[in-house]
Amino acid sequence: MRIPLLDLSSQYRRIDREVEKRINKVIKSQRFILGDEISALEDGVSRYCGTRYGIGVASGSDAILLSLMAAGIGRDDTVVTTPYTFFSTAGSIALLGARPVFVDVEPDTFNIDPNRLEESLKSIGRAKAVIPVHLYGQSCDMDAVMEVAERFDLKVIEDAAQAIGAVYKEKMAGSIGDTGCISFFPTKNLGGFGDGGMVVTDDKELAERIRMLRVHGSPERYRHSIVGRNSRLDEIQAAVLNVKLKYLDIWTEERRENARRYNALIQEAGLNDKVITPKENSNSKHVYNQFVIRVKSRDRLKKHLADNGIGSEVYYPIPLHLQDCFSYLGYKRGDFPVAERASQESLALPVYPELKESDQVAVVSCVKDFYTKG
Ligand SMILES: Cc1ncc(COP(=O)(O)O)c(C=O)c1O
Repeated sequence: MRIPLLDLSSQYRRIDREVEKRINKVIKSQRFILGDEISALEDGVSRYCGTRYGIGVASGSDAILLSLMAAGIGRDDTVVTTPYTFFSTAGSIALLGARPVFVDVEPDTFNIDPNRLEESLKSIGRAKAVIPVHLYGQSCDMDAVMEVAERFDLKVIEDAAQAIGAVYKEKMAGSIGDTGCISFFPTKNLGGFGDGGMVVTDDKELAERIRMLRVHGSPERYRHSIVGRNSRLDEIQAAVLNVKLKYLDIWTEERRENARRYNALIQEAGLNDKVITPKENSNSKHVYNQFVIRVKSRDRLKKHLADNGIGSEVYYPIPLHLQDCFSYLGYKRGDFPVAERASQESLALPVYPELKESDQVAVVSCVKDFYTKG
C-alpha cells in the first residue's frame, strides 16, 4: 500500500492536455514576463477573491514581504503575528528590520486568538500591523481581528497562503484586510509548477505600490520611485494557474468531501477519544489545504503510518518563537503554550482531491491499529 500525503501526478492527469497546450502557447509567443497570462491570472484571481486588484509576485513569501513594504513597515516597527505558522510569515517582518511580536493561537483552529491579540497590543504599545494567518485553509475570526486592528490603528495583512477559496461570513479569505497574500507553491490548493504568489487588495494605492515594488520600484522603464526588488510571476506559471483556477472549486469540494468522510470514519472507528479532528467554524468554509488531526504519541503514530506506506506531515514541529534565528527576540519555552502543544500533537493526513475512499478507510484503519495494538 502507498498513500502519499499529496499526489500531484493524479491531479495533473486530469488536466495535462489543457495545461500543455497553454504552456506551448507561451513558448511559441516567447513572451515570458508580465504578458497576457499574468493579466488574465490577476483578473481571474482577484475576481475569484472578490477584490479589485491582484498583483502576481514571485512567491507567497514575497506577497507578504511586498505587502509589508507597501504598508510602510520598516526598521524598528512592530508587527504582530502568530508563532504557529510557516516561517516566512514572521521572516518577512524580520527581513525589513521590523520586530515580530507573537500572539498565541486558539486551541481548536490554530489561528490567532483575538483576545490575546488585544492583550498583547495593550502591553507592547505601538504596533503598525498584524498578520493573521488562515492556517490549513480556514479563515481566522476576522471580525474580531479587524475590530482590534481598527482600535489600535493597525494595517491588516492576511496570510492567505494556504486559504484560497476559504470563506468567512460570505467574504473570501484575503479580501478582508488591507491586503491578502496567496501562495501558488505546488502543494497549495491552487499550485503552480514552481514558486508563485499574488497579493489581492481593494486598496488602489497599495496595489500601485506593490505593482512597482515587484519591478524594482519602477513606474516606468529605468525610472525608480521607490526601492523594490525583482518579484515577478512568470508567464509559464500563470498559464498553468489559469488552467487550474477553472477547477479550483471542484477540487475544494473534493477536499471538503474527504474531510467529511474522515470525520465519519474516525467516529465510526470509535477513535474520537484518541483523535481530535479539525474544527470548522459555523461561519466559515474550510478549504482543507491540510487536514490536521491532534493526537497523543504523534511521532510514533507518524512512524507507524510511514511503516504502512502512508504519508503524513507535521506542520509545524518548532513554533517560531523557539527558532534559533529569533532568539534575539527573547522568547522562551512556555511563552505560547497553545502553539507549543499544537507543535507536539498535530499531524496532517492525506486529503488531496483525488484521494480515494478506500485510501481513507486504510488511513483510519491504520490509525486505529496503532491505538488498539499500541
Ligand atoms: C502560512 C504560509 N505563509 C506563507 C507561505 C509562503 O509561501 P511561499 O512558499 O509561496 O513563499 C506559506 C507557504 O509555504 C504558508 O503556508
